[in-house]
Amino acid sequence: MTSPPMRQTFSPRGPLKGAIRVPGDKSISHRALMFAGLAVGRSRITGLLEGEDVLATAAAMRQFGAHVEREGDGTWSVEGVGVGSLLEPKLALDMGNSGTSTRLLMGLVASHAITATFTGDASLSGRPMKRVIDPLSQMGASFEASAGGTLPLMLRGASPAVPITYRLPVASAQVKSAVLLAGLNTPGITRVIEPVPTRDHTERMLTGFGARLEVAKENGETVIAIHGQADLAPMDVVVPGDPSSAAFFMVAASIVPGSDLTILNVGLNPTRAGLLAVLRQMGADIAELNPREVGGEPVADLRVRHAQLSGVDVDPAIAPAMIDEFPVLFVAAALAKGTTRTTGLDELRVKESDRLAAMAAALTSAGARVEEHADGLTIHGTGGEPLRGTANGRVKSLLDHRIAMSMAVAGLASSGGVEIDDTSPINTSFPTFQRLIAEATA
Ligand code: S3P
Repeated sequence: MTSPPMRQTFSPRGPLKGAIRVPGDKSISHRALMFAGLAVGRSRITGLLEGEDVLATAAAMRQFGAHVEREGDGTWSVEGVGVGSLLEPKLALDMGNSGTSTRLLMGLVASHAITATFTGDASLSGRPMKRVIDPLSQMGASFEASAGGTLPLMLRGASPAVPITYRLPVASAQVKSAVLLAGLNTPGITRVIEPVPTRDHTERMLTGFGARLEVAKENGETVIAIHGQADLAPMDVVVPGDPSSAAFFMVAASIVPGSDLTILNVGLNPTRAGLLAVLRQMGADIAELNPREVGGEPVADLRVRHAQLSGVDVDPAIAPAMIDEFPVLFVAAALAKGTTRTTGLDELRVKESDRLAAMAAALTSAGARVEEHADGLTIHGTGGEPLRGTANGRVKSLLDHRIAMSMAVAGLASSGGVEIDDTSPINTSFPTFQRLIAEATA
């Protein structure tokens, strides 16, 4: 499924102009396929992200017995199997690079009377799964994982599973969603307590599919309760544009002089909008046009004009609302006036790569001044001068799409260009990235 390695150089190409449309939200696309695959009847999904990660979820839902088809006009049609009726996959589920597919589907399997084996690429096989194995074991599922609690792993679901109340030890929407999805086929009420809010697409969309789910605030924490052995009803889902994909263009247009770019149809769920707030704090010129609602999510068009950014101390409390956007924020910081300090970012070390180490190495090799700490980076910006570029080597993307795209943006704001060893991971989340860069800079 994964694409062959591709070496690529991104050089300065002038301002970003005009209007572009980024693909559908990755988090929402995964959930739309999964929940439609659990509903009884036919759902239709428009705007689905057709990246490798989401296609891995589609393939897995087929193995569980759902009928998943792409129609000629790009709409996806899904006939679900019904909660409680997942079939046992005949083959190992190849999750590729996708942590979201893996962790959420582990939740689904955990409360069904089936056994499934999960495999993935080298990046995914190094990522921690204990964070989902722990709560799902409490619900009755059993696991045979590789040493260190990683893939490949085999999961035997429990039927019936046992409802639990689980306080999240890490701020993770994937862990929250895994427990809630296991709760869908568990008798009684399964609860997740979230000390720090994370993206809430699971809660919003499950409610749309007819699940009984209550969200309450207790002592400053969020408590999500799902009533088990639910029936889901099919629905039509419209997937808004992915703010995590728009992020690369928000930063590119902010740091490349003369830019004036409109990014259409960007999801602005408050649990995802942290980068917008931090860029504005740094002095970015970003206007929200035509605010509206798409598929139960707030959406707007973003008009981004070049501005001289200034370094800031990023409040660690905002991290969950921009957890995937730090790599590209570091690029913005490298071009800002003054110093940007980030802390509280231990989670970045267990993403598709160790994103603190990967971005420190990549930006340094492109000429930026970066200090790496245990839980963050300190970056001394150029004050708007272009970065030197990777004159003496090339950046390693480490099977991490967001490292590749962030350093591509750095290349647009360099004098000598940035060479990346492998841009093929970009296909996991943003297959049209290179085309949109070319269009915006044409
Ligand atoms: C995601 C949650 C986040 C994020 C990932 C997508 C999701 O992961 O980094 O890209 O769709 O729930 P964590 O839950 O591990 O923070």
